[in-house]
Amino acid sequence: MEDLFGGAAPYYARYRPAYGDAAIDHLAEAFGADSRVLDLGCGPGTIAIPLANRVRAVLAVDPAEEMLAEGRRLAEGVPAITWLRGDSATLRALPPFDHVVMGRSFHWMDRGAVLAELDELLPPGGAVALLGPAAQPGEPWQPDAQPWQAVERRVCADFGLDMDAAATCFHATGQPHRAVLAASPFRRLESRTFRRRLVWDVDGLVGLQLSYSYSSPAALGDRLGAFVAAFRAALLAADPAGRWEQDLVTEVLIARRTER
Ligand SMILES: C[S@@+](CC[C@H](N)C(=O)[O-])C[C@H]1O[C@@H](n2cnc3c(N)ncnc32)[C@H](O)[C@@H]1O
Repeated sequence: MEDLFGGAAPYYARYRPAYGDAAIDHLAEAFGADSRVLDLGCGPGTIAIPLANRVRAVLAVDPAEEMLAEGRRLAEGVPAITWLRGDSATLRALPPFDHVVMGRSFHWMDRGAVLAELDELLPPGGAVALLGPAAQPGEPWQPDAQPWQAVERRVCADFGLDMDAAATCFHATGQPHRAVLAASPFRRLESRTFRRRLVWDVDGLVGLQLSYSYSSPAALGDRLGAFVAAFRAALLAADPAGRWEQDLVTEVLIARRTER
């Protein structure tokens, strides 16, 4: 599988906000301390690294070697994580696991096929957990409620970047994750949300922007410098104080099989 996040991994590791201890604690509690967890689409270990201290073992799997390299670097000294190159089409090649978590990665996959395969691979009681931004009214996949959204949209449009490209798999069916789960064996859903307030400066927002697949360094190529300059200027024109607050709401959606 090609690397969808070319050159973005260091920005991802540095600038994407963590999910926060409360969300990871909740996830670990749902899985149980003695469990072996597959983190599918692990990126640089956003979930795998904090989770590894709370469960028996984490199998961190991603198709992007750059992401795995960042993860291995950040996880130095954290035991109980195995980093493997793979993806949603290579689940059968993995060592056994008890539960699966996917953080902002399920939308890249053939979701129905993945759930059908997980139904064969997961033991009884095995759960599938999705972590990501909680959907807001009218925004089925990503809230995009950030105060700098309008600036981002304008500058991305100027550079011909398709902000919605990341959601192609999602939009191909038009079905939110919940609907896909409801039609799968993992239809017993339990949702909790965790709210945090973040404060961003210009450097943080530029770094965050370069962590997205649609505006990664590889997507921008030799226009990277021009894009950064344009985005930085547009942000400061919109808010000369250079300070943005974001209400980040993370949903932990745990899906289990109905009793058989
Ligand atoms: C937005 S990042 C999420 C990283 C991390 N899980 C998090 O919560 O921040 C999405 C990750 O999914 C990976 N990915 C894309 N397609 C995938 C697939 N078919 N199977 C597994 N992982 C995939 C990408 O390489 C990328 O690292």
